Amino acid sequence: MEYEILMEKAQEASKNAYIPYSKFPVGACVLTENDKIYTGCNFENSSFGLTICAERNAIGSAIVDGERKIKAIAVFSPKKDMCYPCGACRQVLYEFQSENGIDIILKDGDNLKIFKIEELLPGGFNL
Ligand code: THU
Repeated sequence: MEYEILMEKAQEASKNAYIPYSKFPVGACVLTENDKIYTGCNFENSSFGLTICAERNAIGSAIVDGERKIKAIAVFSPKKDMCYPCGACRQVLYEFQSENGIDIILKDGDNLKIFKIEELLPGGFNL
């Protein structure tokens, strides 16, 4: 299944996380409307607030390649089952959702759990 592949790529990306402070690696993998795949990992900074989450790193790579609509994202941490996206990343995902929304794919042991963005961010902000 395609979502298994997205999760594998998220897992692979988490290995490159730059996490000297939290020691909490996260990887993400987005699937766009054009069936392109982009990965990201978190990277931290001595000035802690500058940390970039794995999800926003992956979304940024899609954006710079000209993609604008995201169909699905897998999020993975080896440290935590069900590694939900933070609130900031949920709002960024909301911005780039496809016509059918976004499936957010999390790993729960050997299983994948899938949520729609509306479930994780009811009433997302738009202009
Ligand atoms: N982190 C992510 O990469 N994505 C999230 O949605 C939540 C948190 C990262 C940020 C930081 O490097 C580490 O996890 C601990 O908060």
